[in-house]
Amino acid sequence: MRLDHLSLTQFRSYEQADWPLAGADVHVLLGPNGMGKTNLLEAVSVLSTGSSCLGAEEEDIMQWGKDYYRVRAKARSDAGEEKQIEVVSQRLPRKARACYLNDVRTPVGKLFGVLPTVTFLPQDLELFTGSPARRRSLLNDLLEQISEAFAQHLAVYQKVLRQRNTLLQKIAEGTGREQDLAVWDEPLAREGAAVTLAHLELLKVLQCTLGEEMRHLGESWRDAQLVYERKGEALTQEGIEEEMKAGLLHYRERDLLLKATSVGPHRHDWRMDADGRSLPTFASRGQQRTAVLALLFLQVSYMEIARGEKPIVLLDDVFSELDEERQSRLLEVLGKHQVLLTATHLPPRLGKAMVWEVQKGKLSLRPSALLRSQHVA
Ligand SMILES: Nc1ncnc2c1ncn2[C@@H]1O[C@H](COP(=O)(O)OP(=O)(O)O)[C@@H](O)[C@H]1O
Ligand SMILES: [Mg+2]
Repeated sequence: MRLDHLSLTQFRSYEQADWPLAGADVHVLLGPNGMGKTNLLEAVSVLSTGSSCLGAEEEDIMQWGKDYYRVRAKARSDAGEEKQIEVVSQRLPRKARACYLNDVRTPVGKLFGVLPTVTFLPQDLELFTGSPARRRSLLNDLLEQISEAFAQHLAVYQKVLRQRNTLLQKIAEGTGREQDLAVWDEPLAREGAAVTLAHLELLKVLQCTLGEEMRHLGESWRDAQLVYERKGEALTQEGIEEEMKAGLLHYRERDLLLKATSVGPHRHDWRMDADGRSLPTFASRGQQRTAVLALLFLQVSYMEIARGEKPIVLLDDVFSELDEERQSRLLEVLGKHQVLLTATHLPPRLGKAMVWEVQKGKLSLRPSALLRSQHVA
């Protein structure tokens, strides 16, 4: 999949912007910090998954003081089929959002995977030592774009979880009844089991070629593994559901004290092991970066196999953080993909790329003569 054109209206720092991307596969968004580079990648993520890759709320991405935003893309599938994707979100007179596929109103769930993306954020460089929230969202973002059923399970799970947590709050305040928790435990366990099962299967698939990918990047660890961390051992929908129901009961007292649900896939985690040891306990920072890069390649190739479409790769401020060898490998592996990357300084050795200068809500193509002289200098 390739974006040919992106337009933004009242999105973050952009009052109105047009970004024509048909001229190249690699696009560099160049500019000092705070100029609006990441905002553009975020706009692509909104079209891809219906939500911000930074986890931002609708009110945060809507331009300050405005009542709506619009993001619209013209894209082309690998087979050459044209697609128009649009998301419009308003704040007033009431909060509402509409999505359009080829100008026909579409539920947000149908948008998932139409414009497949894989995102690499700066915090991903510390993926294995950073917060578990990002590790969980990595699995969820990938699965949502691949499976409509998963996206539905996750949406229902999150909704039921919010309802159960609200009830826990109310019980603490004396306005809710403890016996009503059972109403939420049943659907939470059912949806939670489906989400857990999908996480387990995804890690198993990614794991298949993990060792090979690491070897390509110059790390020959024996037995590199992706390990899911959860309470329980069941491997079937029914089994996980039963374990989760038992867990919800067992930890009810704790949940009541915490006023939050402490059992389920929103609390699960995963890690990478090699030779039986967890990565952060033995791998250098450089080795951890290699592992993260391997994981990026695994996501890209899995997405391509599962969707039959090459994902667009969004790299936010990470390219320049990689050494020469890893940069080359990245460009080699992603050679046939559209890659949109942000940087504060023009990275050398980019090959055929279009460079866009980003200045306070404005986007302009850097003249190629300038680009050449930069290369010579
Ligand atoms: N909702 C919003 N409305 C208007 N401006 C915003 C909004 N959200 C963020 N900004 C502005 O966007 C800029 C940050 O853009 P960002 O894309 O993160 O910059 P960078 O080029 O460093 O990636 C900041 O100047 C911030 O003031
Ligand atoms: Mg940024």
